Amino acid sequence: MPTAQEIPTASPIGRDTPRIDGPLKVSGTAHYASDFYFPGLLYGVPVEATIAKGKITKLDTAAAEKLLGVRAILHRQNIGKIFRSTLGEGMNGICIERRPPFEDDVVRYYGQYVALAVADTFESAKAAADAVVVSYAKEKPNVEDKLTADNDPDTVMTSYGPAKRLQSERGDAAGAFASAPVKLDQTYVTPAETHVPIELQGTTAMWDGDKLTIYEESQAVFNMRGVLAQMFGSPNENVRVITKFVGSGFGSKLWPWTHCPLAVAAARQVGKPVKLVLSRKMTFQSAGHRARTQQRVRLGATPEGKLVSLEHDYVCHRSILDEYHENCGEATSFHYSTPNLRVHFGWARRNIGTPSDMRGPGAVPGLYATESAMNEMADQLKLDPVQFRILNEPKIDESEGIPFSSRHYVECLQFGAEKFGWSKRNPEVGSMKRDGLTLGWGVGGAAWIATRDSAAANVELRDDGTARVACGAQDIGTGTYTVLAVLTSEKTGVAVEKVEVVLGDTELPLGPVSGGSWATASVVPAVFAAADNAITMLLNAATTTPGSPFENRKPDDLAFKAGRVFVKANGPGGGVPFADLLKRADLRLVFGSKAKPKFSMHSYGCHFAEATWQPEIARLRVSRVVTVIDGGRIINPLAGRNQIEGAVVMGIGMALLEHTTYDPQNGAPINSNLADYIVAVNADVPRLEVHFLDYPDLELNAVGARGIGEIGLAGIAAAITAATYHATGVRVRELPIKIEDLLTSSILT
Ligand code: MOS
Repeated sequence: MPTAQEIPTASPIGRDTPRIDGPLKVSGTAHYASDFYFPGLLYGVPVEATIAKGKITKLDTAAAEKLLGVRAILHRQNIGKIFRSTLGEGMNGICIERRPPFEDDVVRYYGQYVALAVADTFESAKAAADAVVVSYAKEKPNVEDKLTADNDPDTVMTSYGPAKRLQSERGDAAGAFASAPVKLDQTYVTPAETHVPIELQGTTAMWDGDKLTIYEESQAVFNMRGVLAQMFGSPNENVRVITKFVGSGFGSKLWPWTHCPLAVAAARQVGKPVKLVLSRKMTFQSAGHRARTQQRVRLGATPEGKLVSLEHDYVCHRSILDEYHENCGEATSFHYSTPNLRVHFGWARRNIGTPSDMRGPGAVPGLYATESAMNEMADQLKLDPVQFRILNEPKIDESEGIPFSSRHYVECLQFGAEKFGWSKRNPEVGSMKRDGLTLGWGVGGAAWIATRDSAAANVELRDDGTARVACGAQDIGTGTYTVLAVLTSEKTGVAVEKVEVVLGDTELPLGPVSGGSWATASVVPAVFAAADNAITMLLNAATTTPGSPFENRKPDDLAFKAGRVFVKANGPGGGVPFADLLKRADLRLVFGSKAKPKFSMHSYGCHFAEATWQPEIARLRVSRVVTVIDGGRIINPLAGRNQIEGAVVMGIGMALLEHTTYDPQNGAPINSNLADYIVAVNADVPRLEVHFLDYPDLELNAVGARGIGEIGLAGIAAAITAATYHATGVRVRELPIKIEDLLTSSILT
C-alpha cells in the first residue's frame, strides 16, 4: 500500500484544484433534477393538511377535477397500491418517513400530503390542489417546546435500527458527581432547524412498461432505488435513479421523502412522466429538519481541573410515527477523559413532520451542549478553557477501550490558540475593547465520525490519452466530481482536466452515500483499486500485442507511473505513454472496477470565535473565527476550505439566527420561508481563517483522506456563546441567542 509520503510532489493531491464542474454551473448548463423536460410531462402539486392532528372526514375533489388542464386528483381511493419499505443491511432501505403516501385518513402533522393534483401545467395543478376541499375532525396538536421524555422502553427502534437509551456508561457517574469538589449542572436547548438548501426537493418520475426512471436531487441514489423498488414491488434493476447535480442538501436529500413515491404513483396512474417539485413551505413541513433538543449536562471536577464525572441526559423531539433519533451523545463518550460517565436519552413525540439528519446530525447539537459545559466549568475553575480541555485529553477512546486511529485534538487547540492570539485574552467579562466595542473571545471543540462506506468505481484509460472514471456517488456541491478527477489523475498520470467524471446514476458502479462525511474516504479505495485494475489490463495488452515494445515481457516486469509504462528494471526513463500502447493494440479502452469494505474513526477540530458587543444598541456580531481541523489528508485544499467556511457560516446561523417555530394553535412551522427563517448571509460573516493539520489517516485509506462535510459545524455554536458571555456577561443556554437575552447585560460601555 503506498503511503502519503511516497506520493510524488507532482501529485494533484493536496493541490488547490478549481471545481471541474464550475463552468457548467456558472453557464447554466448543469442540469439539476427538476431541469429535465420530457414530452408529455405533467405536473403534480400536493394538497397539504391544514391541521396537525385529526382525521380527514371528507375530501371533495369535484371542483378541482373540472378545472382546465387537470388530469387527475389522486387520493387514498385512487392512488393505487404503494407498499411499505423496510430497513436493510448497510446503507439500504433507509427512509425516515416510512408511511406510504395516503396510507390512512389520519393527519399527524401540519402539511402532511392528503391528495395530489396532476395537470398539464404547474399553474393548473396548483389551482386544482387549492380547489380540493378537505374536511377534518380536528384535535389539538402537541407542538410543545418543553421536552419531557415519553415512556419508551430501554431499547428503542430508530430509523437506523435498535438503540439503547443508555448510550454509554462507565464507573459511577452519579456517585462521582455527588462527591465532586466542583460541580456544574446546566441544561442547554437547541431549536428545530430546517436545512433550506437553495435547490428545492423534487421528483420527475416516468414509467416505461415496468421500468421506472426518476430524476431526483438525491444524496444517495442507490438507497433511493432500493426504497422505491420496495414501494412499487419492482426488482431493483427495474428502477433507475439519476442525480447529476444537487443544489446542496445538508442531509435533507439523503433519504427519500414522501413526495417521491407520490410522483411515481401519479406517473403510473396517468401513464405520463410527472414532475413534482416542492414549495419552500412544503420543505419545512415534510422534508425533514434538525430535531429540537434539551440537554442536561452535569460535570464534576477536581479544583485542579480534572474531570471526575460527565453526565449527558437529553431529550429530542420526534414525529408521531417515525423513529428518527438526534444522536446528541455521538461524541460525548470519547471526547474527554473521565473515569465516570453516563449518556442517556429520551424522546418526546410531537405533531410535526419527522426530523432527520442535518449536517453533523447529533454531534452538532450535542457538542454545543457539552462544549458549552466545558467552557462554563473552566470559568468556574478559573482555568483557561483551552488548558482545561488539554488537561482532560484522553490517551485512548475510554468508552471502547481502544486507541484512536489518528487524533490531534490538542494540536488543533494549541495551533488555533496561536493563530487567534488567544494568549492575549483577559478572562474578565467585558474587559477587552477595540474601536469602542466590547470584545468577547470563546472556544469550542469539534469531533465527527470518520468512516467509509462500500463503494465501487470504474476507471478507463483511453487511446486518446484521456481517462474516464464512473461511480454512482453524488456531488451535492461539495466537490466530489473534482475529487474523483484528482484521484484518477493521481493514479493514471492523466491531467485532471483530461479526466471525464461520471456520477449520480444507479446504472453506474455502486457509489457511497454523499453524507456522514464519508463520500471522499469511500471513493479513494474504489478509484485506486479500479485504476490499478485498468493498469493491469493495460500491461496485459502491452505484453501480448504483436509489435508492442513490451511484447513477450511479463506484466510483472512492467510498471506504470505518471501515464507511462516502463520496464521496472530500466526505471521510468524510457517509458511509453499508455495511449500509444492502446492504439497499437487497437484498443479504445481498458478498464477496472473494484469494491472495498469499511472501517471506523474520527475527525477533530476546534473554533476560536470573537464577538463584538455594542451595549448602546444591543448589537452582537461575530467578528472573527479561526478554525483548525484535523481531517486527515486534504485532497483539494481549495474545496476543503470552502467546506469548512460554509460550515462556520452555518454555525454563525445556528448560534444567532436559525430557528424553526411551530405555531401552537395549528402546529404549522410558521416561518416556513426564506424571509422568516433567517440563515447567516455574507453580511453576517466576518473574516474566516481555516487551517488544516495535514495528518493522513492511513487506517482509513491509502491517501489518508477523511470527509470533512460536517466537522466544521461541530463546536462553533459553543465558541460563539462563550465569546458572547465573555463580552456581555450573559450566559445563553438556548439557541439561537436573541437580543432579548442580552438586554440583561451589565456591560454598558
Ligand atoms: Mo449529512 S446530514 O450526512 O448530509
